[in-house]
Amino acid sequence: MTPSRTDTRASTHWWQDALVYQVYVRSFADTTGNGVGDLNGIRAHLDHIAALGVDAIWLNPCYPSPQKDHGYDVADYFDIHDEYGTLDTFDALVADAAARGIKTLMDVVPNHCSSRHRWFLDALASSPGSPERARFYFRDGKGPRGTEPPNNWQAAFGGSAWTRATADSDLDDIQWYLGTFTPHQPDFDQTNTDVQAMFADVLRFWFDRGVEGFRVDAITPVGKDPALPDQPPVGPEIGTFDITWVNPYTVFRDEGHEVWRRWRTVIDEYGASHPDRDLMMVAEAYATRRPELTRAFTRQDEFHQMFAFDLMLTPWHKESVERALGDIIGILDETGVAPAWTLNNHDTQRIVTRLGRPEAEDPESWTGNALSTTGTDIDLELGDRRARALTALAFAVPGSLYLYQGEELGLPEVFDIPDDRREDPVFHLTDGEGLGRDGCRIPLPWSTEAATSFGFSTPARDGSVGEPWLPQPRVWGTYAATEQAGDDESMLAFYHRLSAARRVHAVPNGLHAELVDFGPGLVGLRRGSLVVVLNLTDEAIAPAPTVGIDLSAATVVAASTASPAAAVASGRIGACSTVWFDLGR
Ligand code: BGC
Repeated sequence: MTPSRTDTRASTHWWQDALVYQVYVRSFADTTGNGVGDLNGIRAHLDHIAALGVDAIWLNPCYPSPQKDHGYDVADYFDIHDEYGTLDTFDALVADAAARGIKTLMDVVPNHCSSRHRWFLDALASSPGSPERARFYFRDGKGPRGTEPPNNWQAAFGGSAWTRATADSDLDDIQWYLGTFTPHQPDFDQTNTDVQAMFADVLRFWFDRGVEGFRVDAITPVGKDPALPDQPPVGPEIGTFDITWVNPYTVFRDEGHEVWRRWRTVIDEYGASHPDRDLMMVAEAYATRRPELTRAFTRQDEFHQMFAFDLMLTPWHKESVERALGDIIGILDETGVAPAWTLNNHDTQRIVTRLGRPEAEDPESWTGNALSTTGTDIDLELGDRRARALTALAFAVPGSLYLYQGEELGLPEVFDIPDDRREDPVFHLTDGEGLGRDGCRIPLPWSTEAATSFGFSTPARDGSVGEPWLPQPRVWGTYAATEQAGDDESMLAFYHRLSAARRVHAVPNGLHAELVDFGPGLVGLRRGSLVVVLNLTDEAIAPAPTVGIDLSAATVVAASTASPAAAVASGRIGACSTVWFDLGR
């Protein structure tokens, strides 16, 4: 018998349909009373994570770092940031997680390090043309005495991408260094053999400690035109945050592919001598609406997976949601490469806020991560309903799904942060033009107890509790995990239900899915015997009859509302709701 397509696309690697929980360490839980999250805080709440039915945790960077970009400025790739713990604490976390069947993924930052990394300090202290400088992009400035930057590239978080190597422009050193994000994050030259060797060591070092894979940060600018030419002029429609991403000399370059092929060889070689492991790396890049990029970076000898941010960034609009799904499941069907879906992360406004925005329904509102938008006219109640509906769809789609801490509590974006408490370099480097990402990184509320920052902090030995590193709003306690436990209507209960439904009714159906058109206002997806229907409108709608699918005879197995009966009454899908049907064959 010829196997069906569902069989041929059956998942053979754990990460192809994994549920992964992203831990933003600094904001998860603080066990020392200093207002900063730490690794022991994760250990203390592993049962909360395990109850979500996840296969793995992904830790945002927890390496030693001056925290200028909260860990994405790595000062040492082989250690743990002292506020977070030690290598021993890390090992204990990996072991505790493994005891619950949870794997650990690290975040690795290849494009740049911290300006406090030893290699960069050595480079600053060395002369132009030295091997120390060759690990980075040091170039002579233009103009008399080199007072102009080597080219016109702009940094992703504002300002020029170049910083003068010495503050004193009278010195002989007329070199500048490149920092695609901020001056605190000098770009590595990945064609340099020292750099290549170091990253191979980094991968092996953490694999040796039990890490099962890596989320690879910001792959977009890795690999540059070696001549570093001026970037072509752009029109006024290209704003501050996009200018870097249209620079053809540093964005999605062929040179980058060489880096990933080298990394893949390291991983495959390590895997070959550890046959009990199933290691992976997942690429972070905003390749939305450009499926050819995902195809290119997930070739057999590059990334195992790439993030699909398409559903995260889609407006609340039928064709956009269908395109988000269609682009990615098309790749999966063609190549067998499963995407890593996500609806939230530490760089993006939280979903209940995003989908409650007045422009959420506008098909043109493909707003990227909305770094510059503020919090006016947001309907959080509507955003919450839509978030549940879109999340219920995301739980059904083939591929892995990454959850970002706090989404299971329904946390909204926080806008009300005093300027002097804002931490994100995006805010500071753009003089506030970009609000930045602090609002999705507020320390989690675990309980209603204001004295312990809503359970975020365990008091220090002397009983003191430091202010949380980012201020929590007064209403934070209403979202507390303890408040939601046992409440069937809560976001937390919704996540528990959907996770269980995913395991029973979605994952066993393999990795093939197709879109089904049930008529205006509805988005339909079929995955084996599972059919999921999302109603994007404010009215209940009966799905149009569709050849081969009889929903009236199907069993409702999950929904975005607490009671499936409320989501599907008299054959109609409720307003702003998603329903899962099992056709039973
Ligand atoms: C990370 C950001 C970080 C940037 C620079 C991103 O893609 O997710 O949080 O600021 O890379 O490392």
